[in-house]
Amino acid sequence: MCGIVGYVGGRRVVPVILEGLRRLEYRGYDSAGIVYLEEGQLVKRRAAGKLSELEALVEDSLLAPSHIGLGHTRWATHGAPTTENAHPHSDCTGNLVVVHNGIIENYHSLREDLVGKGHHFRSETDTEVLAHLIEETLASTGELVAAIRQALARVEGSYALGVLWTGLPDTLVAVRNHSPLVLGVGANGGSFLASDIPALLPFTNQVIFLDDREMAILSATGQSFYSLDSATPLVKEIQTIDWNAAMAEKGGFRHFMLKEIFEQPQAILNTVCGRIDLEEGVVDLTETGLTPEVLAGIDRIFLVACGTSWHAALVAKYWIEQWAEIPVEVDIASEFRYRKLLINERTLTIAISQSGETADTLAGIRRAKKLGSRILTICNVVGSTMTREADGVVYTHAGPEIGVASTKAFTAQLAALFLFTLYLGQQKKILSSETIRELGQALIDIATVIERELPRLQQEIASLIDHYYDGHDFLFVGRGLNFPIALEGALKLKEISYIHAEGYAAGELKHGPIALIDKDMPVFAIVPQDGVYQKSISNVEEIKARSGRLILLGTEGDAHLRTISDVVITLPRVHEQMNPILYTIPAQLLAYEIATRRGCDVDQPRNLAKSVTVE
Ligand code: AGP
Repeated sequence: MCGIVGYVGGRRVVPVILEGLRRLEYRGYDSAGIVYLEEGQLVKRRAAGKLSELEALVEDSLLAPSHIGLGHTRWATHGAPTTENAHPHSDCTGNLVVVHNGIIENYHSLREDLVGKGHHFRSETDTEVLAHLIEETLASTGELVAAIRQALARVEGSYALGVLWTGLPDTLVAVRNHSPLVLGVGANGGSFLASDIPALLPFTNQVIFLDDREMAILSATGQSFYSLDSATPLVKEIQTIDWNAAMAEKGGFRHFMLKEIFEQPQAILNTVCGRIDLEEGVVDLTETGLTPEVLAGIDRIFLVACGTSWHAALVAKYWIEQWAEIPVEVDIASEFRYRKLLINERTLTIAISQSGETADTLAGIRRAKKLGSRILTICNVVGSTMTREADGVVYTHAGPEIGVASTKAFTAQLAALFLFTLYLGQQKKILSSETIRELGQALIDIATVIERELPRLQQEIASLIDHYYDGHDFLFVGRGLNFPIALEGALKLKEISYIHAEGYAAGELKHGPIALIDKDMPVFAIVPQDGVYQKSISNVEEIKARSGRLILLGTEGDAHLRTISDVVITLPRVHEQMNPILYTIPAQLLAYEIATRRGCDVDQPRNLAKSVTVE
């Protein structure tokens, strides 16, 4: 997604903007730009490609005596990733610039109207319309904030917006509507603006989240806030982010993704701790607002998510129906938002999202809310849009996940969802404190097991990828709780190594996919000694009989596996309910090692963005 950075204050602005843009690179982009005000003139530099292209252009400006500016990394939605389409975009006079993240849905009609009034456009973007709209009104009012309000009154769509005008040389204006924006408050004065927290962390951990249809006026001495819909000043709360800049760095690992794979034990513990009392066998998730009385009025749960988060939802369905005995439907958000929904006030709709900004998931819960559903969000980003629109939130405390491929956020989601399951069972009085203690302990123990096994697993998997890294296809199979992990393993491999991969329920192979099996087809099969073990073994025997190249993942001590395949990776026997979390780890490592061996951009895979804030 696009990334916005802005600053006004005592520091030299060019280095601040560049550093902020570097911290947003993980969002995925294809061009970048910067603008700063110097001696009353706007100096604008833009470049297609990576940030290094822009840095080369502003090398001579690092010491520019400017203290106010905006920066942007663009992920193209309207118009090719060219310099001319890169932000910032100017009005006709060149005295006003904007940077934008989102989509202006009615930009065609607005552009035609503005061209008819004599405005000349330089880019193919929807964003440029905003600059000319503001210019149009500014010409008559001479008042920037009023001009922005009037301009945006004509705009349909989503925007996180930064505006700088030579007529107000000490002020940045920021506006947010359906696209994230967070402000930073400098310890010694100064105001920062960014699309996401990591861009602020090198400078401050005091942040203010803008809500939809809110505007901020930023100066070197402070910030003021208004609604787009009224001139009434707003009071906004400053929040302290406990991530430091180092956390968002790689911490000695080769890639963010590998660092985040190894952070999973801590992410799980951070998500669980403070929420379960093993002594008492009690789970505390009062932040969900799901009292026994509220729950008594819930007769169905919808889990709505995209991608990896949807896989977490699929696992949660098994858990919730098993332990809380509430019917669960799982929906891909982009399907959920457009189909007929039989939802009412007796429905609990749960959005699962690492970023809390995924457009499809956000639209889904907004629809469910309109239909009377209570909304809960399982999310990793404090103050993100989904968390502020839900009735309750269960935060995964996985810390910043920079790698585009989700790893620690996923296992933290599973931990949060399992904890939530126990909480539901507890509130419905169908789980005893003994059962909660047993299952809660299993959840805490899995973090220790993963911590211990990670180095060995990475080594074993790295040693076997010579035979697989140059493949073109891969199958992943699993049963029951591990079927969603087969889907997740396939997604991980394809999204970072670009090898085509598919995940299947193991029992489904005979209904078609088994036709794919031959001596060239690698199959990653999850076959722990669990309740469906014998069935899973039958499935892998079928694959072996057709010369499939099996990689078996099974339970330590299961000697039978080596009679089926020479490639066996064993994992410790853990509580069966914890297998989905444990067996995710080798699947992530397989994808990482293969992608790295193929020389792929593991942290920023092609065509992908960390947070898909457009539909
Ligand atoms: C994860 O590896 C993927 N990059 C992607 O599928 C992601 O899970 C999906 O876009 C949902 O994102 P969210 O969890 O932030 O809503």
